[in-house]
Amino acid sequence: MYSSAIIEEMNTTILAPSLLSADFTELGKSIRQIEQNGGAAVHIDVMDGRFVPQITFGQPVVASLRALTALPFDVHLMVEHPEDQTDTFAAAGADWITFHLESTVHVNRLISHIHQLGKKAGIAIVPSTPVTLLQEILPDIDIVLVMAVNPGFGGQQLLPFCVDKITELVRIRTELGLCFRISVDGGVNNRTLAQVVRAGTDIVVSGSAFFKGTLGWESVR
Ligand code: DX5
Ligand code: ZN
Repeated sequence: MYSSAIIEEMNTTILAPSLLSADFTELGKSIRQIEQNGGAAVHIDVMDGRFVPQITFGQPVVASLRALTALPFDVHLMVEHPEDQTDTFAAAGADWITFHLESTVHVNRLISHIHQLGKKAGIAIVPSTPVTLLQEILPDIDIVLVMAVNPGFGGQQLLPFCVDKITELVRIRTELGLCFRISVDGGVNNRTLAQVVRAGTDIVVSGSAFFKGTLGWESVR
């Protein structure tokens, strides 16, 4: 049985491979690859062709995959108007629903709504958004997803200044006694993995390096 309780139980850095770099003709096989190679959650990048240029997975795909694994589904909404999509992704089987700070005005309302749906709520920030803009909502959220590339595509280079945001979030979390988890997404590969883990990441998202088999996740275990 899958459970969003993993967030509370998390006492080590976990890996959430991103299906964006999977073989789309064999998604079931990709889920098994995730299960067999250290994945503790499945990161699903939802793109709408507006917030970011491409269009990827919709609710029917998520619902189909739900039957294949007990791992939590970490749904990353890169969409405009995420409030229009959360109920249906929750119904399709999302466990953690992360939306972009840059994508909606009524952030607190959407966080509360996701919690009312019984799901974990995450906030993502693009590289140009500073951590300071999260100040008012940090006590209410379960995950902060730090994008280390500009969203929209896999296989990009990690922007080093984004690693400082992880360090900053760890500091703020300690200072304020909060318990949100920090996720990093974009450009994590065998050259950058150690630095994001050292900075204090709780959830490492990896797409291209994971599916190429070059991430080197064993090195952080
Ligand atoms: C990018 C996505 C990422 C992407 C990461 O917009 O949010 O989840 O899959 O891919 P890599 O690990 O290849 O940078
Ligand atoms: Zn993502």
